[in-house]
Formats: sequence, C-alpha cells, structure tokens
Amino acid sequence: MATENRLEPASRPLSQCQEHGKLPAPPGRDLPVRGTSRNKPGMTTVSDYRPFDDAGVPRAIQSHQVGKLPPTIEWSGGRDGTLRLLDQTLLPEQVAVRECRSAADVCDAIRRLQVRGAPAIGVAAALGLCLELSRSAASGGVGDAGAWGRVGALLSAARPTAVNLSWAVKRVLCAIERAARATPRADALALWNAGFAEAVAILAEDVETCRRIGEHGAALVPEGGGVLTHCNAGALATAGCGTALALLYVARERGRRFQVYADETRPLLQGARLTAFELAAAGIDVTVVCDGVAAALMGTRKIDMVVVGADRIAANGDTANKIGTYGLAIAARHHGVPFYVAAPRSTFDRGLSSGAEIPIETRSEEELRHAGSRVVVARGAGVFNPAFDVTPAGMITGLVTEKGLLQPVTTGEIAKIFG
Ligand code: MRU
Repeated sequence: MATENRLEPASRPLSQCQEHGKLPAPPGRDLPVRGTSRNKPGMTTVSDYRPFDDAGVPRAIQSHQVGKLPPTIEWSGGRDGTLRLLDQTLLPEQVAVRECRSAADVCDAIRRLQVRGAPAIGVAAALGLCLELSRSAASGGVGDAGAWGRVGALLSAARPTAVNLSWAVKRVLCAIERAARATPRADALALWNAGFAEAVAILAEDVETCRRIGEHGAALVPEGGGVLTHCNAGALATAGCGTALALLYVARERGRRFQVYADETRPLLQGARLTAFELAAAGIDVTVVCDGVAAALMGTRKIDMVVVGADRIAANGDTANKIGTYGLAIAARHHGVPFYVAAPRSTFDRGLSSGAEIPIETRSEEELRHAGSRVVVARGAGVFNPAFDVTPAGMITGLVTEKGLLQPVTTGEIAKIFG
C-alpha cells in the first residue's frame, strides 16, 4: 500500500509543546459512560483508566467494546506489555487481534488499516510510542527525549490525512518533555511513565469525548426518520462509542427509533463491513446500500439526516473525510437534507486556513483493482484511489463536537470551542 508524498511534517519540534497548556486535564472522576459494561472487570469506567496500579505497575487498558468483539485497542501486560489491535481488515468474517510489540508494528497496522478511523489511530500511535520505548525504560539510564521524538516522527507519518495521529503523538512527546524539564537527568523510566500516563489520558478522554458528542447530537436524530452515514465513524474508529455513530447510540438509549442506511464505502467497505456490523450488534436497524444509491434514497425522501465523521477539519470548517463524503453533501444540499459532521476537537487543525491545505492520502491501486480475490478493473485501465475528499464548510449544516453543536459552520464559531 502506498501513500502519496505529501506527508505531514514528521513531527513538530518539541518546543511547540506550550500549546498543550490548553488541553483538558485527564479525567479522574466517574463518568456516565454506558456500553463499557462488557469490558473486562476492573476496566469498566473511565475512572478506571488510571495508568498505574498502587505498586506503580502500568495497568491493562482497553477501549470501548463492540458487541462481543475484543476491544478495538488494548494495552496489556505492564511496562513490557503489548498493544493488541482488533484487526479490522478481517471483519466481519473473522475476529482476530494483531499483537504489536514495536512502533514499527503499529505503523504497519495503521498503514494496512488494521486499526483505522481518526481517533483510533491517534490512540494506537500514542500507545505505540510507549511500546517502543519500554525497552530503554527497563534498561535504566538517563532518559533520552530525542529517542521518543524519532519514534514519534515515524508514527506521525504512517497516514497523512487524519490529524489526530500527529496530535496524539505530539501530546505524548510534550508530556515527556515536561517530565524531562521538571527533573533534569530524569531516568528513562520516569520519562516512560510520563509518556504512558499521557497515552492513557488520550484514550480515556476519547471515551468521554465520544459520549459527549453523542449527547450533544442525539436530539438531531429524527424520530421515525432515515439516517444515512458513510464509512465507519463508530466504536471501531475510536476508543469510545464513536463520533457520527455516537449520536445514534445515544438517541437509541433515549428511546428514539430510526432507520440507518450505511453506504458500503468502496473500495474497502468500511460501511458494509464495520458500520453495519457494529450497529447490528447494538440492535440498531441498519441497511447497507452501495455508494451510488444515496442520492436516489434522498430523492425518494427516505433520508432525513446525513451524519459522518471527519479526519481533519480546517480553521474555516472545511472537512476531510472518507472519499464520497463530498458527493453526499452535494446530494444532501440538492434535496434539502441536513448534513452533519461529528468530530472531536482533536480532529480540528486550526493551523490550516482552508481544506485546500489538507493533505489527502492516495492509497494503493490494488485496493481498487480487486474486489476480494477477483480482479474487477479491466487490464490496461488506469485507476485513481484517493482515500479522502474535502467538503466545503458552507455545505455542512452543523458540526457536532464534545463542546456542543456548531451551527453555522464558520471560522468564528469554531474558534469559540477553543477559547
Ligand atoms: O480510511 P479510514 O477507514 O481510516 O477512514 C475513516 C474515516 O473516514 C472516518 O469517517 C473518520 O476517520 C472519522 S472516525 C471517527
């Protein structure tokens, strides 16, 4: 699988860490996060996401679970533990976990989309960074913040479009830098502990953030109506209950009934394989349609709302999401259907003034040339396989964030949630 060359700067210099002064403190209280009750005993609520036990040993940490599946992301086994990722390329036929032992493993899993979705790859990369540096922590000696930076650069470059990836890596690097500054000649173990605590905070915050997005957006889901979604922006794409799908989960908890249409999402079928899977597992009425059906469904008044996730949102609200999202927005505008994007603040990149600056990943031709093991593109034809497109802010009815609904979608409204 190839990515195009327009990668993000590998990692931003550590000196930019002061930006993190504005980030919320890691949650340390009980939160009403439902749906985590299937997680293993001792790991059921956000308040349990304490990185270390009383003896200072890193605890096992896992994301929200979907149905009876293993969690999307799990850290298990203490300081020299492994990062276990539910292999999403095999769903729904096979449930398998990829066990990562190094940052290179995690980079590979991210590139292959074994873990995918903007928030999930951020959490995986943050924990992947800890994975790599656990060996030097064990061997003692003076901590080397530069080694963390080099590994962080590799992880940040694994996929270019979702800004959550470099955002999460940078957060861990900044935590390391703070620890190094606070204790000159801090040992490698102290730096590792600081990095791991930050990675766990990122995971825990994502659980809380997803829930809040769902709570802010649930009222938008029309009683008895039809909801169209694209790709997968659910529990499989986050550490929590999703972004776009969080609205549906919370609306359902509140007793609302509705019909979901999931675009199959060519070429990798995240809608058919993943969204349909997790909604069906939650008992939500879901019908898969091929991508070309969406406009016709709107034309026959079957769709009352479109809700999708995002990989990166520029300062003016232009939004990059899975290829095909822009076309949906055009169809929704034409048919007068409200078009919502649900995303956490970690998906906003206010350093970019518009969507024209968002790097768009181009993926391997092979993904398009094949449907399963069959060749479906005529020999001799070229193919073009961008993974994302950009929907202009003006076509988005509202942005649902953990801070509330932003409507209209303007630079000024967006700035308010970062105030
Ligand atoms: O290529 P993918 O499967 O990682 O693309 C994922 C999406 O486009 C999602 O909609 C987006 O990351 C939001 S996930 C909450």
